[in-house]
Amino acid sequence: MIILVEVGASILSADYGHLKEEIKKVEEAGVDFIHIDMMDGHFVPNLSMGIGISKYVSEITNLPIDVHLMVEHPEKFSLALAEEADTISFHIEACRFPFRMVGLLKESGVKPIIALNPSTPIDTIEYILEYIHGVLVMTVEPGFSGQSFMNPMLKKIDKLKTTILAEGYDTKIYVDGGINAKTAPKAVEAGADCLISASAIYKQEDVGGAVKLLKESAKFKR
Ligand code: DX5
Ligand code: ZN
Repeated sequence: MIILVEVGASILSADYGHLKEEIKKVEEAGVDFIHIDMMDGHFVPNLSMGIGISKYVSEITNLPIDVHLMVEHPEKFSLALAEEADTISFHIEACRFPFRMVGLLKESGVKPIIALNPSTPIDTIEYILEYIHGVLVMTVEPGFSGQSFMNPMLKKIDKLKTTILAEGYDTKIYVDGGINAKTAPKAVEAGADCLISASAIYKQEDVGGAVKLLKESAKFKR
């Protein structure tokens, strides 16, 4: 059986002056969702898009919007994003009461995803795993696009997949950081269901072709 994973385009590497065209290009090429990286300069050493951007993106496309909150106190922003976001991921390292946060998101109609930094073990989400839509496994230290995929994370993805299957949960594995046509097959083989990429899409001359290449490379036979 061929497993078709979903591919999301992270607009972090897009040309902000032509965001509408940049989104249309990936939409036409068959991307499955748009990933918006929001950074606060505290949780990660970088600043990026804020609340208004998700509204703007939702007016351009009907594709699902996936917001990645790389911020301290993610609970402060969940309501403001709820209308446009289909999924919101928040970092376990930045959230003291993740069950409360997951409840807040679900009440506002958003599918919750918990993100894990590379050094964070999967045990930290053992008891919440069955209640969330997905786990976002970071395969680079969060904060910047264009970094290299961290191979030791393949073991983490594999371990997480084994747990999810053994428990019979419906939780999806998202993988974010350094995904390209070479690393995508490895991530999928380890158990990824959804892949996110910024530079392997937006830093390429042929953005549409890059999406197609990524989708093709991520096809996996089980
Ligand atoms: C990193 C962000 C990623 C980033 C991926 O902090 O969360 O979504 O945009 O960029 P690439 O695909 O270039 O590693
Ligand atoms: Zn991200």
